Amino acid sequence: MPKRVHLHDKAFKVFIEEKEILIKIESIAKQINEDYSHTEPLFLIVLKGAFMFGSELVSRYQGHCHLGFVNIKSYQGMKSTGNVQVSGLDPDIVKGREVIILEDIVDSGRTLYKFLPILNEMQPANVQIATLLYKPDAMKFHVPVNYSCFDIPNDFVIGFGLDYDGLGRNYRDIYQLAADS
Ligand code: IMP
Ligand code: MG
Repeated sequence: MPKRVHLHDKAFKVFIEEKEILIKIESIAKQINEDYSHTEPLFLIVLKGAFMFGSELVSRYQGHCHLGFVNIKSYQGMKSTGNVQVSGLDPDIVKGREVIILEDIVDSGRTLYKFLPILNEMQPANVQIATLLYKPDAMKFHVPVNYSCFDIPNDFVIGFGLDYDGLGRNYRDIYQLAADS
């Protein structure tokens, strides 16, 4: 994998390597396995950003589980917008289930803060949040982050599902904005 990538007008440098990411995902999967051994949870992958994290995590889960997808859109360029759009979620798969939302990153918290009431209307048994990345210093809308692979500083990152204006989701390392960018 390249040490530096250029997307649109910006340069990014390697921040977290794939090997380290997969070790963390393995350990979170193990923890969720223990915590949910009493049930058949529903993993809810938030598209598009969590497609890779979701795939790596769910494929390491050993028990029976259900899988759902939801499209939530809130970001434009490098800024989170107040306008959160939710689509594509089938209420029937949520009802009565123990849900684990799989997110790529929790930044301001706004996306999940707006999504949780919508999800709760579908009457899940309970809801927890697992995220690949968490920026604790950026949180403005409080949501409970139950599982986080990496707590990171307040810098813009791409790769492993995360994009900058549509590009960069395919890289298997995580990159952060280069200082000279
Ligand atoms: P929040 O609503 O501010 O918590 O932002 C959550 C969403 O914004 C995530 O699901 C991402 O899609 C996107 N996002 C937040 N921070 C970053 C970043 O550093 N790089 C790429 N996307 C981000
Ligand atoms: Mg996202």
